[in-house]
Amino acid sequence: MTTLFTDLQQFSYWRGEILKHESIGFVPTMGALHQGHVSLMQRARRECDRVVVSIYVNSLQFNSLDDFSKYPRTVDEDFELCKSAGVDVVLSPLKDDMFPLHPVGLITPSHDAEGFEGADRPGHFSGVVTVVDRLFSIVQPTDAYFGLKDYQQLAVINNMSNELHRHVTIHACETIREDDGLAMSSRNRLLSPSARTSAARIPLALLHAISCWQDGNSSSIAAIDAARSVLECDSTIEIQYVSVVAAGTMNIVDTINQHDVIIVAVVIDGIRLIDNMKFITA
Ligand code: PAF
Repeated sequence: MTTLFTDLQQFSYWRGEILKHESIGFVPTMGALHQGHVSLMQRARRECDRVVVSIYVNSLQFNSLDDFSKYPRTVDEDFELCKSAGVDVVLSPLKDDMFPLHPVGLITPSHDAEGFEGADRPGHFSGVVTVVDRLFSIVQPTDAYFGLKDYQQLAVINNMSNELHRHVTIHACETIREDDGLAMSSRNRLLSPSARTSAARIPLALLHAISCWQDGNSSSIAAIDAARSVLECDSTIEIQYVSVVAAGTMNIVDTINQHDVIIVAVVIDGIRLIDNMKFITA
């Protein structure tokens, strides 16, 4: 049975009943759930005694009110998906319960937040770590599951968690993709049919960069140019950045080694999409 809590006091009664030796797998989300989220829930279900999913559209991490209000909200479908994935609890708190004090005391993210998404979306990662810290304090999970699609977010949350929630094990989960390779994202449903067609170029661009490296060219400039050449064929794609970072970090590399990661952000028809892939030998 899946129980929905919107009241934090009620949730804390439930949490208080969990025995000390039981593991709690936590999947924080902003709703608009898709198969990518389901795969996180299923992994938490396999690995933990209890599974909690939070659904909270966090205004602190949006740069504009317009982006926040456009964010898809699909509460009923989300609850059904959680039920079918065997989730024990869905926690969907109200803003005033999450952050009763005004102004909200924001947490400063680690230096990994500085470039890329952090540069293009000022304040975004401060909003992310502030809400994840608060959710970790409420849920007190033993394990938390995040998708690798949000590669920089994962790095920044890992740093925050190492500092403030050392007892929580963070699990990085593989990106789940559509049949044409597009990384699943809640934002995909905002794409018009033609923007959706263009978006399929993103994974192709990353794969092209990786095959260029597999063919023996280890320069990151060459890989970035290869990715850009695929994206630039479509004039509706605005490239925000394409870069290569060292495995597990946000440090830019000049020479690519196995497990380094190519990261990309584009805007298509006003919708910002990000993706990344690891360099692995064929
Ligand atoms: O990845 C997301 O959906 C959000 O950034 C998160 C981690 C739930 C924080 O609001």
